[in-house]
Amino acid sequence: MKKDFLSRPDAISEQRCINYGGFSWHEFMTAIPEPFFVVTGWKANGKQNACVQSWANFVSGGIDDFVCILGNVYKNGHMYRSLRKTGVCVLNFPSIDADVYARCIKTIGNNAYETDEITAAGLTAEKASKVNAPRIKECFLNIECEFLWKRALCAGSKTLTVALKALNICMDSDRYDQSKLGRYGKGGYLFHIHCPVNPETGEDAPYGIGTIALDHSIPWKTK
Ligand SMILES: Cc1cc2nc3c(=O)[nH]c(=O)nc-3n(C[C@H](O)[C@H](O)[C@H](O)COP(=O)(O)O)c2cc1C
Repeated sequence: MKKDFLSRPDAISEQRCINYGGFSWHEFMTAIPEPFFVVTGWKANGKQNACVQSWANFVSGGIDDFVCILGNVYKNGHMYRSLRKTGVCVLNFPSIDADVYARCIKTIGNNAYETDEITAAGLTAEKASKVNAPRIKECFLNIECEFLWKRALCAGSKTLTVALKALNICMDSDRYDQSKLGRYGKGGYLFHIHCPVNPETGEDAPYGIGTIALDHSIPWKTK
């Protein structure tokens, strides 16, 4: 049975939202998966920065314009500061193969200003082709970007929405060949599933990372 939720259900307490990072109860209730990737750039001291992101999406602005919307960027994070200083960054997409995802997660625990975060996490930094930013060699897709604009979505928010324009795409040829590794399934794109909660009981469902598979059994019928 479908149910309406016009305001925060008691089962998702305000304290719970605060404890889980200050996210809106809507997020825990909907738990919509989002693509998982790592944003890399140079910190002002010349050290590599790496920032896991997953509140993001991608849109075409025209034949040659591809824009990434980072929905929720912390204003005080290294990534935002690096992006504003250099104007560029790279979006790096890991798979779970060869522990690449696990190593990307380790960038979070190696986040000191003085740390080269890519190498400290056991990954390899390589030079990007088009922008002055390091990119992660082990990631199967790297999107090199320039900063377009930023907006605050809500008054008093600690985060900003940032738009980036793609300048170069570097992709493993075995990934864009669906007959080889391909982009989907177990070893393909990763999606973050953020803390799903039952809004009636307050019960948490398992959260973490997931993959998607193309379902050929669902026909594409518009009429
Ligand atoms: C699955 C996952 C998704 C994340 N998504 C975001 C995000 O969308 N925006 C953000 O600012 N931080 C996000 N974070 C937190 C940052 O990755 C983390 O705080 C990072 O260490 C900050 O790095 P920085 O200080 O170099 O920017 C996420 C963390 C995880 C584990």
